[in-house]
Amino acid sequence: MERENFGSKIGAILAAAGSAVGLGNVWRFPIETGENGGAAFIIIYVLCILLLGLPIMISEFLIGRYTHANTAGAFRIVSNGSPWKWVGRMGVFTGWFIMCYYVVVGGWTMHYTFLSVTNAFYEVPASRYEDIFNHFVANPWAPTLWLFLFIGIIHFVITRGVQSGIEKSAKLMMPTLFAITIFLAICSVTLPGASQGIEFLLRPDWSKVDSTTILEAMGQAFYSLSLAMGCLCTYASYFDKQTPLAKSALNVSVIDTLIAILAGFIIFPSVFNIGMNPNDVGVGAGLTFISLPNVFQQALGDGSFLAVVFSTAFYFLLFVAALTSAISLHEVATAYVTEEFKMSRKKGATIVTLTVLVLGALCSLSFGPLSGVKLFDRNIFSLFDDLSGRILLPLGGMLISIFAGWVLDRKLYRDELSNGGDMKTPYFKLLVFSLRYIAPLAIALVFLDQIGVFAFLK
Ligand code: PHE
Repeated sequence: MERENFGSKIGAILAAAGSAVGLGNVWRFPIETGENGGAAFIIIYVLCILLLGLPIMISEFLIGRYTHANTAGAFRIVSNGSPWKWVGRMGVFTGWFIMCYYVVVGGWTMHYTFLSVTNAFYEVPASRYEDIFNHFVANPWAPTLWLFLFIGIIHFVITRGVQSGIEKSAKLMMPTLFAITIFLAICSVTLPGASQGIEFLLRPDWSKVDSTTILEAMGQAFYSLSLAMGCLCTYASYFDKQTPLAKSALNVSVIDTLIAILAGFIIFPSVFNIGMNPNDVGVGAGLTFISLPNVFQQALGDGSFLAVVFSTAFYFLLFVAALTSAISLHEVATAYVTEEFKMSRKKGATIVTLTVLVLGALCSLSFGPLSGVKLFDRNIFSLFDDLSGRILLPLGGMLISIFAGWVLDRKLYRDELSNGGDMKTPYFKLLVFSLRYIAPLAIALVFLDQIGVFAFLK
């Protein structure tokens, strides 16, 4: 069967940016920035993106576009039958794993959009938000139904194919996402007391920067750019030969970073507006589903029209961000199943969807009926999260950089990067240097940190 490509460069970039912009931009980056020295952290983060993230993203793009194959197939082709082919399989596996818990949160964003639009937070006392969330996730039915709905939407998009599914939805959803982000940031910075929030986010404080900060910035850069999970490699396999790889990677990184910073502009002005201590807002689910609904009600007027609009827009934004990322994860697995086991896209996608329904439901139920099922002291959800984020992700990133820097044929790399000599690549030496030395070393440090070696040594 003829393999599809993206129909336009902008479609390709928006799809890749859709993968990158996700929950990580909203529920992790802003709070990490505020707590780790503001602008100082942003500078370090941007350096991580430039020195480590971009070279790896460019390499993933390159391998995908050169082979026009799913990630496992792509690495099999470029590895010439050597064991490096396992890096591709590992990417597929990691992406699949991440998808299983990511979709659970996708379902939660839908539920909170629904609660917001129905003004369900009106007159809820601040102390109740935690109960509301805990009660919701522990319920065996509601989160599972939202989860299935979320997966259903992904399935619908994926089965429509690369151009009429993924590309078309990205062209619709990404501009929507930009518009909502800007709208919310403007609303938020016009609140009284907003300047303190912006100061918290941006004031550089180098005294807060230490080795842990740098490791955190690297880990975040990796996750945020969707590296090492096959997503970018898979999407790039639908790029045509004219797509400029380095420039596209730069565009995606800039979009991702801007949205992450703007998310901080949405969150902190409201936090300071209500006089809350930013160190108490939490991170991840606690921030998003416990602190923020309360913050928004109080900052914008409990039960007011503005509060309903703001809160609804915020959770809808999260929903769209999570959806475009989850679609990219699904595509990694679908392309793999379809191409490696030679079946139709519909059938491949259905198999993937079924596995995600089952494993996603297990992750979801691990907050309720299955909360007793634990391994290494973690419930199923955290197990999926930690295994993929802390172990598989850095390991994959490191292997990709070593492979691209040391193993992959240099001439092939340069030819592909320059689109067969059509474009200048003055940064080529720096790129190879990073892939060979900086990235593997830096990621090895992140990895050791993530699995707790440094904490142990201390
Ligand atoms: N980059 C996404 C985020 O910031 C997460 C993600 C990782 C999505 C890997 C797809 C693949 O939330």
